[in-house]
Amino acid sequence: MSISINSRLQENFQQYDGIFFPKDYELLSAAEQKQLWDKIGSIYYQTQKAEELSQDVLKTIDYQQITGKIGGLWNRFPHDRHFETILEIGCGYGRTSINLSKEKNLSCAQYYGIDISEPLLRRLLYFKQAYNFYPSATFNLICNSAETLPLADNSADLIISNAVLMHIEQEKVEALLLEVARVLKPGGAFVFNNSFHNRNCPGHILRNLSRKVFPFRANSIYLNQQTLEEVESLLENAGIAKKCSKLVVEPNSHYVLLPEELGGFKVPLANGINRSLKPSTAQKAALAYSFNAYSAGVLDA
Ligand SMILES: C[S@@+](CC[C@H](N)C(=O)[O-])C[C@H]1O[C@@H](n2cnc3c(N)ncnc32)[C@H](O)[C@@H]1O
Repeated sequence: MSISINSRLQENFQQYDGIFFPKDYELLSAAEQKQLWDKIGSIYYQTQKAEELSQDVLKTIDYQQITGKIGGLWNRFPHDRHFETILEIGCGYGRTSINLSKEKNLSCAQYYGIDISEPLLRRLLYFKQAYNFYPSATFNLICNSAETLPLADNSADLIISNAVLMHIEQEKVEALLLEVARVLKPGGAFVFNNSFHNRNCPGHILRNLSRKVFPFRANSIYLNQQTLEEVESLLENAGIAKKCSKLVVEPNSHYVLLPEELGGFKVPLANGINRSLKPSTAQKAALAYSFNAYSAGVLDA
C-alpha cells in the first residue's frame, strides 16, 4: 500500500472489517443521504440474499446471476487492460468491477472503491471473497460521501463510476468532479457510464411534473439533471479536461418518451413504446435517459 496515495486515508479514516470509515463516522451516519443508502443498500437488487449463502455455495453460482450484468459504455471497454490504480466512485456491492474484471480481464495493483452505504461495501467484500475479482489488487474500500476523496493529487490512473452521480445533489456533484480532477493522474482515463440524467428527456420532464403534482409520492433518490451542454461545462469547469487529452459526453442508448411509472402508478405500454424508439442522431440528445462521459481513447471505437 503506497503511503503517499494513502496519507489522507491514514490521517482521517480508520479501518475495521476491511473498510475505511471516517474517524467522525457519527457525523456521516447522521446524514440523510447515508441513512437512505444504508436502507436501500440492505435490500438493493435483493443481493442481500447472497449473504444468506455460504461462500462454498456462492462460489458454485455464476456471479452474474447474483450480481447482475453491466451494459452501456462497459460493452466498449477493451479487454486485458492494466492500470496501476483504479478508483471507483459509488462502487456499491461491486457489480461494475466484478464484471470488468471477469468479462474484460481488467486488472490493477490498487483498487479504491468509495461508497456511502456500509451494507453495500460489506456485500462487496463478501463477493470479493467468493469471486476474487481484481485478483492481484490491494483493496481499499472507503465508506464516505464521494465529494471528499481521501486520495493524493494525481494518484488515480483510471476513475470509473456507474449510475451514481444522478443520486447526488448538484452542488456535491460539482465538488465531487473537482476532486476527480485533482485525483486523476495527468493523462489518466475516466469512464462515467449512465451518470447524468438528461433534463430534456420527456420521461424526466413528465416525472418532474408528477413530482410537483404528487410531492408525497415523489421518489427522492434522483437529485439532479443536466443537458448535454451542461454536463460538458460541469466537466470543463471542474478541470477534468485539463487532465486528459480530450473528453467525450454522449447520450446513452436508453431512450425514454414515457416513464415506466408516474406518481407511483405503472404507465401502461411505456416500456414497449420506449423500446420501439429509433431516434435520429439529432433526436438522441433529447430522448436519451442519461449521458455518459469518458476520456477519449479509453474505450474501443
Ligand atoms: C444506483 S447505485 C449504483 C451502484 C453501482 N455503481 C452499480 O452500478 O451497481 C448508486 C450508488 O451510489 C451510492 N451513493 C449515493 N450517494 C453517494 C455519495 N454521496 N457518495 C458516495 N456514494 C454514494 C449508493 O450507495 C449506491 O451504491
